Amino acid sequence: MHFASKNIKFAHVNFLLKVKIFSEIKQIQNFITQIKLKNQTIGFVPTMGALHQGHLSLVAQALSENNVAVVSIFVNPTQFDNAEDLKKYPRTLEADAELLQTLSKDIIVYAPSVDAIYQNKVVAQHFSFDGLEHEMEGKFRDGHFDGVGTIVKRFFEIVTPNNAYFGEKDFQQLAIIKKLVEKYSIPVKITGCKIHREASGLAMSSRNTRLKPEYKKVAPFIYKTLQSAKIKFGTKSANKVTEWVSKEFAKQQLLELEYFIIADVKTLKTVKRKSNKKNYRAFIAVYADDIRLIDNIALN
Ligand code: PAF
Repeated sequence: MHFASKNIKFAHVNFLLKVKIFSEIKQIQNFITQIKLKNQTIGFVPTMGALHQGHLSLVAQALSENNVAVVSIFVNPTQFDNAEDLKKYPRTLEADAELLQTLSKDIIVYAPSVDAIYQNKVVAQHFSFDGLEHEMEGKFRDGHFDGVGTIVKRFFEIVTPNNAYFGEKDFQQLAIIKKLVEKYSIPVKITGCKIHREASGLAMSSRNTRLKPEYKKVAPFIYKTLQSAKIKFGTKSANKVTEWVSKEFAKQQLLELEYFIIADVKTLKTVKRKSNKKNYRAFIAVYADDIRLIDNIALN
């Protein structure tokens, strides 16, 4: 759906709900100036909408640690390397606002148009994140982290939050945002929040709403395999565990493994030889039909 036509709906949503929705940069900045004049703090939760319990838990944490929570809802075109994926990404602003309303009225939604953010140049800035951007997702999603870095930096400039909250499901993104803040000396504290899972164990994701029933049924296999991989990693090498995971997915008809990697949590580089002094995490990306699902688990 085109964003300009959604602007008309913003007014409608604002009228019905108490959660304030801003689409213009000036509006949100004026509001933030008022907050700062009162010496109040801002907790920021950037999202692409289609909110679920995982997002709500980030917002709840932002509310508990700050006076006001700002939630951005913006499907960022420059972080998609696949036009079809961008087109199909769920856009559910009204339902999102209603869901946020259940938490508190001290939540501000910032839902700008693509034009407001990028003007007439929908391109990403190029970043170096000291190599973090070349691992895992960076290998499979061309330019993805340039797009993420561009939008998050822009939002930090506009919203000027004290604290910002990101889910550990996108663990690599979280590491990259921490690097972004460090490199550009942006005065915001980044907090990583634990992965929220459906009862089946499937990591919550906005993309889950697009899973057809037969794929939804098998998708929990992803987390089950991660849990077994964690146990195996106690006694086996990273290579052996990785081979085992590949074989398990080869038996699965509906799920296609894109990658399974055991990596050092600091460098995100694939582990070659285990060391007791390092912390590791297993990362996975899987296609369920045309829907790409990612997940990860701490190993030690
Ligand atoms: O994790 C996401 O939803 C997005 O990558 C983010 C951080 C909102 C940037 O568009």
